[in-house]
Order: sequence, then structure tokens, then C-alpha cells
Amino acid sequence: MNRREFISLVGVGCVVSSLPATLTACNPKVADNPSVPSSSAASSDGFQVVGTVTDLDKNGQLLNEKLAVGKVLVIRDMTNAGQLVAVNPTCNHAGCSVAWQPGEKAFVCPCHDSKFASNGKVMQGPADQPLVNYTAKITGNQVLIKAV
Ligand code: FES
Repeated sequence: MNRREFISLVGVGCVVSSLPATLTACNPKVADNPSVPSSSAASSDGFQVVGTVTDLDKNGQLLNEKLAVGKVLVIRDMTNAGQLVAVNPTCNHAGCSVAWQPGEKAFVCPCHDSKFASNGKVMQGPADQPLVNYTAKITGNQVLIKAV
């Protein structure tokens, strides 16, 4: 085998051996992680899967940072547990992510302690704009949201 034949053989081998990995990476059904729904999970009525009811009830809140609308944080409505509240948890003061604090009955920003009511309205600054709300619903074991 001469040098040219060797290089040609190695080149063909590299292409053939990398083909399955390349095809897998290009197939969205294989590449998606089903435990973290992404923007590809949007249905025809505009609702997107945030996560499962099981995870919502286990953690008291459900966060998904990979949806087409952006970050979404879902909690159960304090006055009606059958209803959901969904907000974009991004604080408008400096962009930190709020978390639901059941003891305070508020979304609290860890950076400068802004507080927001469950409907997203500012209760305490320095943030001066409410959290963005989404329409939320439960279908089966899935929590879904849609931009209002
Ligand atoms: S980033 Fe939220 S209060 Fe400053």
C-alpha cells in the first residue's frame, strides 16, 4: 500500500465511522431529552409543555428555561390549587431569576430582594415592572403554558 492509498483508506474510514453519530445528532426525536421539554414541544394550539404535574407538586414550583417564549416558572394558585400561575421569572431590575417562596407568598428575587405577588405584580422594589404572565393549564400529567 502506497501513501496515497493509505490516506484515502483512512479518510473513507473516518467518514463511515462518524456517520451514525452525525445522523443521530441531526434527528430531533433522538437529540431531545424528554425530561426537559423544549420549544419543539409546542402543540398546534400554541401551548408548550413546561414539565410534569408530578414535578410541580414535588417541588412546589416548576421551572423550564428552554421554551420558545423564554424562561417559565409555574406554581399552583394559592387560592385555587386546581389553577396554575405561570410567569417569566426574570426580574426586570437586573435580570436575576426569582423563585417562589411559599412562606412569603411571593416570588422573591435573590439579587436585591424584590418581591412579586403571585400574579406577578411588584410588591417590593427595586424592580419596577411586573413579571410577564402566561396562560397555564394541566392536561393529563403535563403542565402547559401559552403566551397571553
Ligand atoms: S435583579 Fe431582581 S431585585 Fe435586582
